[in-house]
Amino acid sequence: MKQPTLTTTDFAKRRAVLMRRIGPGGVAILATAPETIRNQDVHHPYRPNSDFYYLTGFAEPDAVAVLVPGREAGAYSLFCRPRDPQAELWQGRRAGVEGALAEFGADAAYPLAELDIILPKLLETAHRLYYALGTNPSFDSRVLGWLNQLRTKVRAGVQVPREIHALDDLIHEQRLRKQTAELKLMRQAADISVAAHRRAMRMCQPGLWEYQIEAELLHEFMRCGALSPAYPSIVGGGANACILHYRDNNQRLRDGELLLIDAGAEYQYYAADITRTFPTNGRFSSEQRILYELVLAAQTAAIAEVKPGNPWDAPHQAAVAVLAEGLRRLGLLQGTLAEVIAQETYKRYFMHKTGHWLGMDVHDVGNYKRDGVWRCFEPGMVLTVEPGLYIAASSPVDARWWNIGIRIEDDVVVTRTGCEVLTEAAPKTVAAIEAEMAR
Ligand code: GLY
Ligand code: MN
Ligand code: MN
Repeated sequence: MKQPTLTTTDFAKRRAVLMRRIGPGGVAILATAPETIRNQDVHHPYRPNSDFYYLTGFAEPDAVAVLVPGREAGAYSLFCRPRDPQAELWQGRRAGVEGALAEFGADAAYPLAELDIILPKLLETAHRLYYALGTNPSFDSRVLGWLNQLRTKVRAGVQVPREIHALDDLIHEQRLRKQTAELKLMRQAADISVAAHRRAMRMCQPGLWEYQIEAELLHEFMRCGALSPAYPSIVGGGANACILHYRDNNQRLRDGELLLIDAGAEYQYYAADITRTFPTNGRFSSEQRILYELVLAAQTAAIAEVKPGNPWDAPHQAAVAVLAEGLRRLGLLQGTLAEVIAQETYKRYFMHKTGHWLGMDVHDVGNYKRDGVWRCFEPGMVLTVEPGLYIAASSPVDARWWNIGIRIEDDVVVTRTGCEVLTEAAPKTVAAIEAEMAR
């Protein structure tokens, strides 16, 4: 399988776009995520901060990027761990200062330990500081320390940035619209995740444990070069499908139940997010089929609303209308359609929203409203469309509907004329699912 990837030029272009928005007189400081300890000498698997990686392509911990647009000596400085043969023998390779310059396009690079010496000098040239306050409290206090250090020198003619701007807002707006190269990675994440869901459908049978199905998903992810899921996989049979963020994945699958799988791969720091729901025994019961086709109709109506110019909540409104009418028609909710929607009684069975932005983070960055109104879709935005119905045991309906939890989730990119479903190939109709499971 040919593996798409981003190049140093892609990252340089991103920095150039950001620096044009910051302009001369501004300086941006961005630290990557810290490592976290699991216990004793064991760390959690390291994942860089998405904003940091988006701009640098640098995946090591202990790194800080500084951008000073228009700086003569070079706009982009990278502080990182220096080469250290002994440390690298135990913990793995480092790019070092040399690699930061040669492989990652930095104009200047320094060992992280020199931050306290160099950074105040870079700050001194600026009127405006761009920094995401609040995401990394210990780094925040260092940034404030550098500012205060400069303030003690104003009488000596040193300049201190007077304004602090939210760097994250600028980067998130940039991340919201995906470039062609990013969409390639997202397609890869989607394709791998589709293959994993198909594998799960083919392997599933009553008597297996939820974690055995999870193992099939992970096997397919890693086999295809996605080294981590984008979020903890949800593999919930029967009643567990009605727990929205079920993560235990430790129960036995029983005959006659539905299995809900919400799982997506992370490929080169880009996420897929797919949910499929199917009967453990390969054949939908009549209640399961009725509710499944209702959720599918809601999802189809929601996807049809994803097009440039439509507001963010148009897909959700479309899904709610279909689900509310269906629940009413089946006698699972009382009242007129207008009442069910106005009083939000449908929320008893459909209690979440219909989607979220998708990108490097599964719940990706980018705001949903601007000045209080839903923002409109634009080409290049990627979102999930994921209506569901969850009828827990003891719901006030006939017991034949109990323990049916269904969600259908696809990843959708807004195109110039409408949208494209990146995860279309994961079987979704009753017929396609039953056929896949019979293979
Ligand atoms: N997998 C998390 C979500 O669907 O939002
Ligand atoms: Mn989702
Ligand atoms: Mn999901």
